[in-house]
Amino acid sequence: MQLNIAKDIEELSMQVAEWISSYIGSSTKTRSRFTFLLSGGSTPEKLYRLLASEKFKNKVDWSRLHFFWGDERCVPFNDHRNNARMAFEALLDHVPVPKENIHPINTAVTPERSAAEYESLLHQYFPDNQHSFDLALMGLGDDAHTLSLFPGSAAVMEKKSRVMTVYNDREKMYRVTLTAPVINAAGRVVFLVSGASKAGALHDVMTGPYDPEKYPAQVICPFNDELYWWVDKAAAAGVE
Ligand code: 6PG
Repeated sequence: MQLNIAKDIEELSMQVAEWISSYIGSSTKTRSRFTFLLSGGSTPEKLYRLLASEKFKNKVDWSRLHFFWGDERCVPFNDHRNNARMAFEALLDHVPVPKENIHPINTAVTPERSAAEYESLLHQYFPDNQHSFDLALMGLGDDAHTLSLFPGSAAVMEKKSRVMTVYNDREKMYRVTLTAPVINAAGRVVFLVSGASKAGALHDVMTGPYDPEKYPAQVICPFNDELYWWVDKAAAAGVE
């Protein structure tokens, strides 16, 4: 596990954009496909905009990239809470990724149907359980959730299904979420965490007792140990 601390969200996003674009560049020199799992939430927006900017856009062979989401709120695509909508607006509408390589979680069908569709898509891309995305980008909630794996949810400790539906009481909303096994099979997993509101959760996840039902992000332990935390100073207050 590697912990990187940046001054603020701007420096954090720039450093992660450098890190990601160079990882993609080195991977796509030898392989024709790079699978990139995007996080939801608001933290990654600056990173997505940077990756689409003149500074980074030409460092990546976008034709080789395949995009997925770690979770989705069961709201229409054009709802401001929809994770895919933000990623298209900040990144995917501005880079030449073949449309067929972009896989939003379908919110135009029932959550159960959407989860089943995504489970089958992931099986097509990753037929064995030992390998999944080349890069999985994760966020952290102030309650130590990640993806839509909320404290106390049965989805946190799920070992078999790769995709599940959960009901989030706080938002009164269904979500479709990937589960830990498919993330833990990724080539690299990177958490992007910013802001003082996350300091308590980051402290609990990194230094608290192992209790993933209470601190769900602890359940993310890549099989190959390729776990990278990129945080800003405000979020790192409890772990520095
Ligand atoms: C979601 C996310 C979720 C998010 C964290 C952090 O759909 O909400 O996938 O896990 O990454 O809640 O969200 P912020 O970046 O908005 O703080």
